[in-house]
Amino acid sequence: MIKTGEREAKQTRHAGGSPGLDVARIREDFPILQLRRDGKPLVYLDNAATSQKPRQVIEALRNYYETQNANVHRAVHHLSQIATDAYEQARLKVKHFINSPLSCQVIFTRGATEGINLVAHSYGRQYVGPGDEVIVSAMEHHSNIVPWQMLCEEKGAALRVAPINDAGELIFEEFEKLLCRHTRLVAITHVSNALGTINPIRKIVEAAHRYCIPVLVDGAQSAPHLPINVQELDCDFFVCSGHKMFGPTGIGVLYGKAALLESMAPFLGGGDMILSVTFEKTTYNTLPYKFEAGTPHIEGVIGLGVAIDYLAEVGMDKIAAYEHELTEYGMQVLSDIGGVRMIGTSKEKAGVLSFTMDCAHPHDIGQVLDHEGIAIRAGHHCAQPVMQRFGVPATARASLAFYNTKEELDALGTALYRVKEVFE
Ligand code: ALA
Repeated sequence: MIKTGEREAKQTRHAGGSPGLDVARIREDFPILQLRRDGKPLVYLDNAATSQKPRQVIEALRNYYETQNANVHRAVHHLSQIATDAYEQARLKVKHFINSPLSCQVIFTRGATEGINLVAHSYGRQYVGPGDEVIVSAMEHHSNIVPWQMLCEEKGAALRVAPINDAGELIFEEFEKLLCRHTRLVAITHVSNALGTINPIRKIVEAAHRYCIPVLVDGAQSAPHLPINVQELDCDFFVCSGHKMFGPTGIGVLYGKAALLESMAPFLGGGDMILSVTFEKTTYNTLPYKFEAGTPHIEGVIGLGVAIDYLAEVGMDKIAAYEHELTEYGMQVLSDIGGVRMIGTSKEKAGVLSFTMDCAHPHDIGQVLDHEGIAIRAGHHCAQPVMQRFGVPATARASLAFYNTKEELDALGTALYRVKEVFE
């Protein structure tokens, strides 16, 4: 059992300071972070599952329903104009945030999962046929596996999996070997939700483009933490989820290169995605509306726009630098605790700290931590193949955001010593 003195010594590692970010000030914007659990402050370390929302986003949703609520793109009345303007302004904000060349290349979806399904449906069913191949990596979460599996099964195509090494890094040479004239698409995560690995997207895209193969980047775990520049990445598709970006749930973005999007058939049919309808024939709307059938998640879009304003104001470069520092600190805290195995030790790593402990199952770790007011996720993180790759049924996962602090990571470390006291 760990001695109290040793535990206290481990707790004093934090030297304070967070250059560039006023984290104490930022935390005041997030009402939920002021909550306490049985008298203990909430330590929220489940940001890869979903992020907390700043007051500005919460107020924007309230303001929408109090002063703007109307359907978009449909009426000439004043409220509809206001709602439509706010909706389209948010599209412009996303355009700037990811540096899309045009705002019509920004399509609102329900989230990253729907974005991937849209591409699997509209690109996949058009361009993938029998004998063709789709490449994913061994670190994907289910959202970037299952839609491609469904497509391949339907079309008689094959899913190829680029392997990862023991650190959780893509084995680039093995990935390159998979690229061939049968490959129709590479679908790969920017940041692994289970390992934290940051993939070398530019290099991956360059290799795929040598064979004229388009690349879809799953940015669900990168857009909230790293500056995103789709033109620099040169990816063909990029998807992300609003709720992981400090915005509302049920809203996400699909970016695509215009020529590809133009060439693809619609995903869903309905209102707004048409120019004209007769019983004989429908002609489809232009981008982006061709892919936005039905009344959209208007307040979600507006809320996402405000979340993006917030991130831009804080600065994505500063966020990335601070989270990098926090990640290194967290890795140190965890590796100081005997019997902890880190899963995901990539050199390029975002703030996902996945681990197991010799003395306890991840679910038991999660429960003890919960009693200490610390929220982490325990399980397979919707990435069962990653668990299989590392020979574990599950991991405990602390995932960071820019409002987390070194003190919170110290609290995590202390609580893990408590796990040892209980289970060893
Ligand atoms: N993919 C989400 C996670 O990592 C749900 O928790």
